[in-house]
Amino acid sequence: MQQYKIKYLLKEDVSSLIDTQICVKGWVRTKRGNKNVAFIALNDGSIIHNIQIVADPAKFEEELKRITTGACICVEGKLVESQGSGQTVEVQAESIVIYGEADPNTYPLQKKGHSMEFLREIGHLRPRTNTFGAVMRMRHEMAYAIHTFFHQKGFYYFHTPLITASDCEGAGEMFQVTTMDLNNIPRKEDGSVDYEQDFFGKQTALTVSGQLEGELGATALGAIYTFGPTFRAENSNTPRHLAEFWMVEPEMAFYQLDDLTALEEEFIKFLVRWALDNCKDDLEFLNNMIDKGLIERLKSVIDTDFVRLPYTEGIKILEEAVAKGHKFEFPVSWGVDLASEHERFLVEEHFKKPVIMIDYPKEIKAFYMKQNDDGKTVQGTDVLFPQIGEIIGGSVREENYDKLMTRINELNIPMKDMWWYLDTRRYGSCPHAGFGLGFERLMLFVTGMANIRDVIPFPRTPKTAEF
Ligand code: 4AD
Ligand code: MG
Repeated sequence: MQQYKIKYLLKEDVSSLIDTQICVKGWVRTKRGNKNVAFIALNDGSIIHNIQIVADPAKFEEELKRITTGACICVEGKLVESQGSGQTVEVQAESIVIYGEADPNTYPLQKKGHSMEFLREIGHLRPRTNTFGAVMRMRHEMAYAIHTFFHQKGFYYFHTPLITASDCEGAGEMFQVTTMDLNNIPRKEDGSVDYEQDFFGKQTALTVSGQLEGELGATALGAIYTFGPTFRAENSNTPRHLAEFWMVEPEMAFYQLDDLTALEEEFIKFLVRWALDNCKDDLEFLNNMIDKGLIERLKSVIDTDFVRLPYTEGIKILEEAVAKGHKFEFPVSWGVDLASEHERFLVEEHFKKPVIMIDYPKEIKAFYMKQNDDGKTVQGTDVLFPQIGEIIGGSVREENYDKLMTRINELNIPMKDMWWYLDTRRYGSCPHAGFGLGFERLMLFVTGMANIRDVIPFPRTPKTAEF
């Protein structure tokens, strides 16, 4: 018998299927009824909505006893127009096979609403809830939108390695990769670790960014993007940091600062519009249950021009706010790395729209950023978003070999393993630029979820690597 996804039955024109025999399979959300009739709400993950199964208690007495919230069943029966309100069609069960029961005494996902904290403890089951179903379907849609955007613009998906010997951001927040026996580490005569005996013959780690290899791609293919997992061993326990997150990193030859910020803005607007156009049911659910302002906020972002704000002007605005009595936890003055409270003040209170901050002090940004003529600032860009803070970090790259080397020496960056990166500046160097969008930060924005642990299936954070 033909099996259908519930999404198909609820969303497509199924008039030709009415009164025919069909099959649906899924997990029971609820069961209710009386001695004359039983109603089962069945969900198969294809859509937030459930299909209603109508069963005769006399015929299915044994099955109905075993069908409880969470059970997995296969139903065959007649598709009919629904008599009740709230659904268009329902299935009159003629056969029910129980694939797997879910003991109501131990199955943790009962009908009542659970806290996000509790759901994190049962991360193996939470994809079965409405909220996480919605978030995970949207995660898929956003990933698809990212590939669509770049493909349409002629960018190539360039796969950068996850194991690397270089620290792109220079922050030393890398997870080491080794096959050495930690109880018997090979050492050199001076007592230091002998990495030559390690798997790769050198010290390696999980990547913090695919950018450096991305630059190799861009200076050959013109425009590329990478989209993959990224790892940071920073001990940040915040609602916006993960130790393992996904990053989208486009890199473009011949882009100047204005081209870069224009692409950042176009990209985010494309993604937000995609969410509004393609994730209607899930967004409505999240708007009702999680964040009442969500859909309005998404619409406002695609209708507004993002502000371009030089860092120096941003600091002035913040200092004026302090002078007028606004209290920040952390002090502001030219040269500081902005805290998220500062970023959010600029975005949510001052401009009330997304801000692309540019021209940062070189001391607080990575070595590869293009230096401005003032000798103090670099062409870095951070896109700052309401609720989220920094959603994108990017820059024009320093393409001048001598300037780049000077900066590398100032920062004492070990260049032994980075000769290949410098070669891009030695042979056919060109102006180029790129950025990184934190995929989970985007997901926070488009779902209205409050904690980054709840927009990735299995979050990795300090002291947590369950599931
Ligand atoms: O600003 P970041 O560190 O920039 C880079 O890594 C550049 N190499 C990107 C590039 O130019 N190709 O990180 C980029 C973005 C941030 O704006 C943020 O959205 C996200 O990655 N991000 C994190 N997301 C979740 N958890 C963390 N610990 C994150 N760290 C950065
Ligand atoms: Mg950054």
